[in-house]
Amino acid sequence: MSQRRRIAAGNWKMNGSTAALAEFDALAARHPDPRVDILICPPATLLSPATRRMDGHNILIGGQDCHCAPSGAHTGDISAPMIADTGATAVILGHSERREDHGETSEQVRDKARAAHVAGLTALICMGESEDQRDADNTLDIIGGQMAASIPDDCNAENTVIAYEPIWAIGTGHVPTLGQITEVHDFIRARLIRRFGETAGNAIAILYGGSVKPSNASDIFTVANVDGALVGGASLKADDFSPIISALEGSF
Ligand code: 13P
Repeated sequence: MSQRRRIAAGNWKMNGSTAALAEFDALAARHPDPRVDILICPPATLLSPATRRMDGHNILIGGQDCHCAPSGAHTGDISAPMIADTGATAVILGHSERREDHGETSEQVRDKARAAHVAGLTALICMGESEDQRDADNTLDIIGGQMAASIPDDCNAENTVIAYEPIWAIGTGHVPTLGQITEVHDFIRARLIRRFGETAGNAIAILYGGSVKPSNASDIFTVANVDGALVGGASLKADDFSPIISALEGSF
């Protein structure tokens, strides 16, 4: 059995206001002593109330993006030290929605990951291919390129988590086959080992994301190099997210 971290991560995207904090309470009540890391990444407006609310509970809080600079004239942005200052311990970086909506490049993602590490945050670095890229049989080339350019050299199992999120699976209900997930996760693992060495490369957790639901989570968690999930829509309600967490707990 692998000693890697197992992580059930929820990406709330641009959803949730103060009333949604009740979902944190419900999750904390249902998972008082989780066997996996539970991480919720609410919008920036909820980071401070969420960390205050979860003080004393085993639920980690993370941001959804950060700037690569610690401070400065960048209207509307927030920095990694600011996220850490809220009590959050992680940040999602390079999500395909950031890459698409804001034109983020892999090099920018790498710089943000470095900034996150300096601030003491775990960087959850996302990558994934589009439907066209998969249809053209370019998936592994795309993932390899994103890995090479998005992942900084200072990565280790404590400060970095990789999330494979095929763009065509996000919010669509279309989930890759277990064979497709296996192929990409094995490829990511091999590349991590090649770059960071056997021990560190084997220790970094790799999450799958894209239409993970209570109904498919157990199957996805049977894949050897899937160490958890990055969940969008189904993380918004404790009733949906809780069974996914339980599926992960039951998978090892
Ligand atoms: P869905 O789970 O809604 O498909 O979103 C996945 C995702 O983008 C998580 O970051």
